[in-house]
Amino acid sequence: MPLEIIRNDITKVHADAIVNAANTSLLGRGGVDGAIHAAAGPDLLKECRTLGGCEAGEAKITKGYNLQAKYIIHTVGPIWRGGNSNEEELLTNCYKNSLELVKDYKLESVAFPLISTGVYGYPKDKALKIAISVISDFLLKNDVTIYLVIYDKHAFMISSKLFSSIKQYIDDRYIEEHSYARERYMKNSICESQCIVKEVEVKNRKLEDILNNIDESFSEMLLRLIYEKGMDDVDVYKRANVDRRLFSKIRNDKNYKPSKSTVIAFVISLRLNLDETKDLLLKAGFALSHSSKFDIIIEYFIENKIYDIFEINEELFTFDENTLG
Ligand code: APR
Repeated sequence: MPLEIIRNDITKVHADAIVNAANTSLLGRGGVDGAIHAAAGPDLLKECRTLGGCEAGEAKITKGYNLQAKYIIHTVGPIWRGGNSNEEELLTNCYKNSLELVKDYKLESVAFPLISTGVYGYPKDKALKIAISVISDFLLKNDVTIYLVIYDKHAFMISSKLFSSIKQYIDDRYIEEHSYARERYMKNSICESQCIVKEVEVKNRKLEDILNNIDESFSEMLLRLIYEKGMDDVDVYKRANVDRRLFSKIRNDKNYKPSKSTVIAFVISLRLNLDETKDLLLKAGFALSHSSKFDIIIEYFIENKIYDIFEINEELFTFDENTLG
């Protein structure tokens, strides 16, 4: 999965490099800066002293010393002053310049903290959107695994309207699911005939669809959909947050059995509607269920035609659900 949002202490993350949210002196202090210096040991400070500081938005690289990471990329985020002091551009540059160093040093993986969202006071949801936007653009052109490390999950609830509307959607579906079942049980004679007609119709459509492609595997259906939608493989797996190696496995093995989250990642990438989603899931042996919060959240995004996998992963993470890809 090229971009993973994880909850951890960044000094414990296995990556070629970890990014430090430093200050212009590069001489360490508190927060993630303090944690990295403490874990890396005194030799880090010695090397930092030779760098001559760092401007906000810039990035410099040192060795990782006692850390598991080979390198530490130090970048200095903007101090939040209300949003009219070039904060967005400076924070964007922090991620861009750090990723330039990842490319220059040919690193395969890197872990970022949420720069500027601690002492420097940058609103977490704004900062997260900037991080995800820069990282997802970078991933369209580069094969690197990137971890976005959220440290204080509890303090980090996205208070976006998206979060509350998904919450409402979950509640509605969950109630609907249970009240419908109760209602159907109570009025089974009346509803029964209607439901039978409806189910026969649904079965006919599905039966016809299934009969048309009865011997089509998940992999064959995926490749057929990519062809029918005129998309190219690279664009599809990048937008699915799936790495190249996994995609070529699926492409070369017609009986490949993907995970449910991988199937749904391709659903998002191909912008399928709910019926197409159910068909593709069925090919891999899965279904959507209203007793699963994860499934209801996915259904919310499909119903609302929101197909940005990084935005979806952000919300899944907030609901403590597995992310896609
Ligand atoms: N691992 C991952 N993330 C962490 C860790 C950790 N061990 N410790 C803190 N964080 C998170 C914070 O919760 C916050 O979301 O990193 C994010 C950035 O917070 P800060 O470390 O305070 O960095 P920042 O807001 O950019 O302020 C930089 O703080 O530590 C000083 O020297 C640093 O002066 C600089 C300023």
